[in-house]
Amino acid sequence: MAAFALKINGQTRQVDVDPNTPLLWAIRDGAGLMGTKYGCGVAQCGACTVYVDGQPMRSCSLPVWAVGSSEVTTIEGLDSKEAKAVQAAWAALDVPQCGYCQSGQVMSAAALLNLNPKPSDDDIDLAMNGNICRCATYVRIRAAIHSAAKTLEG
Ligand code: FES
Ligand code: FES
Repeated sequence: MAAFALKINGQTRQVDVDPNTPLLWAIRDGAGLMGTKYGCGVAQCGACTVYVDGQPMRSCSLPVWAVGSSEVTTIEGLDSKEAKAVQAAWAALDVPQCGYCQSGQVMSAAALLNLNPKPSDDDIDLAMNGNICRCATYVRIRAAIHSAAKTLEG
């Protein structure tokens, strides 16, 4: 076990874990933030997506020792204009079904709009390719991203 001071959502959180513990468990069990989900555990489904210094990362496959002083953002700390537009579009279009994958989907969608404010269908499919939804909400996800992009256009 070792003590780490993780910067999560603008706060420093002390967690005492094995250095090889995935960031996901430091976030959920160490910091008590339950919005980030465990899906596959092998960086294949996107349920555990968080930002590390603004970049979407799979927290199930990132050991705590590698995080260092990077800023971690989870779904609970998402407050960019893109994130707000995405969350509003998600609610308006009733995107989630069981909801399990959706925090990862929202994290990836907001990151996409931050990089590409007017994505095409292909851009969306490519960017969201690593976020699996067992309920197959993909059509609504795509529509919600287009809707959020329109909102951001003003
Ligand atoms: S739980 Fe991390 S990508 Fe599936
Ligand atoms: S909404 Fe159920 S897994 Fe995506």
